[in-house]
Amino acid sequence: METKRFTKTEIFKAAKLLQKGELIAFPTETVYGLGANALMAEAIKKVFAVKGRPSDNPLIVHVESFDQVKKYVSAIHPMTQQLVNAFWPGPLTLIFKTKANAFPKEVSAGLDTVSFRMPNHEATLALIQTAGVPLVGPSANTSGKPSPTTSEHVYHDLKGKIAGILEGGPTSIGVESTVLDLSDPLQPPMILRPGAVTKEQLEKELGIEVLVDKHLLKESEAPRSPGMKYKHYAPNTKVLMIHSDDWQKAVAWGNNHQLRIGVLSGPAIAEEVRASTAAVFMYANDSVQSATKGLFAGLRALDDPKLQLDIIFVQTFPEVGLGTAYMNRLKKSAGQKFFEK
Ligand code: TXA
Ligand code: MG
Repeated sequence: METKRFTKTEIFKAAKLLQKGELIAFPTETVYGLGANALMAEAIKKVFAVKGRPSDNPLIVHVESFDQVKKYVSAIHPMTQQLVNAFWPGPLTLIFKTKANAFPKEVSAGLDTVSFRMPNHEATLALIQTAGVPLVGPSANTSGKPSPTTSEHVYHDLKGKIAGILEGGPTSIGVESTVLDLSDPLQPPMILRPGAVTKEQLEKELGIEVLVDKHLLKESEAPRSPGMKYKHYAPNTKVLMIHSDDWQKAVAWGNNHQLRIGVLSGPAIAEEVRASTAAVFMYANDSVQSATKGLFAGLRALDDPKLQLDIIFVQTFPEVGLGTAYMNRLKKSAGQKFFEK
């Protein structure tokens, strides 16, 4: 199958293909999504097949308004409207109990809940409106690999397997949305996956303590979000996390072992180690925002077989605010491994 590249002026064509059950990847502010008609079981099955996604991992339904959500859910948490007003469109996915048979069973992987998100991207909101149906949208990568933050990443993973990609430039945030469980109206909201809408922001908005899935604090606890248990975001090259004070030691250790080292960091660290490593991918600046934006792109770039790297060293950040989401993804890509002196 030829994978077409659609521009914003061709949204109508892309929407027609979605209505017919074809797959079209779309841009969002977080990562690119693999779009399919959320009401069509055949289309959903293709999503799982094309990504190589385990069938017990439910999908996020992407909508163009909160009104579109209302017809599918059976109970609405009392804090919903406040969260929607504050954070939609945006990187916050909300989980609700759904009416029986609201979606084909593949969407929720057999759970009685479904997650919804309104992405903050003009072209994709127009795509959902034009298609006239909600769209599932898992990250548009091969399962297990770093998520795609450019249309080139999507093309690399899925060319020949999907009908098209809607072009939308590099994504602005770089990691997937915060997943928040609102499925029990009597319980406080619980974060199942950290993202750019932070715990701190949610608590400030709601004025209460927001819960965090035990799995996010302790890897050995079973996650409530099925997708969190799988190997994720991992390039083929081994990844090691380097605490800020350990860079000199880590580079010396790598060179002693004759490893070809790739470095993924902000400019401050990059300048310090550039001369003694094989390749550097530099974040735009030293902030956690630019690191989050560049993490997946950097892992993909340094995984290029032409570089022949043995190991990728990556900068860490404190686990507060956006640093929580950055470290959550980085730890998974590194199999939880830090350089230890
Ligand atoms: O930013 C994002 O959310 C991106 C863009 C494309 O919108 N999408 C995305 O989808 O990250 P995906 O499929 O790669 O991740 C969805 C996550 C998985 O960890 C899945 O297990 C969890 O959300 N999830 C979905 N529905 C759920 C449900 N009903 N209950 C618990 N977890 C759910
Ligand atoms: Mg994903």
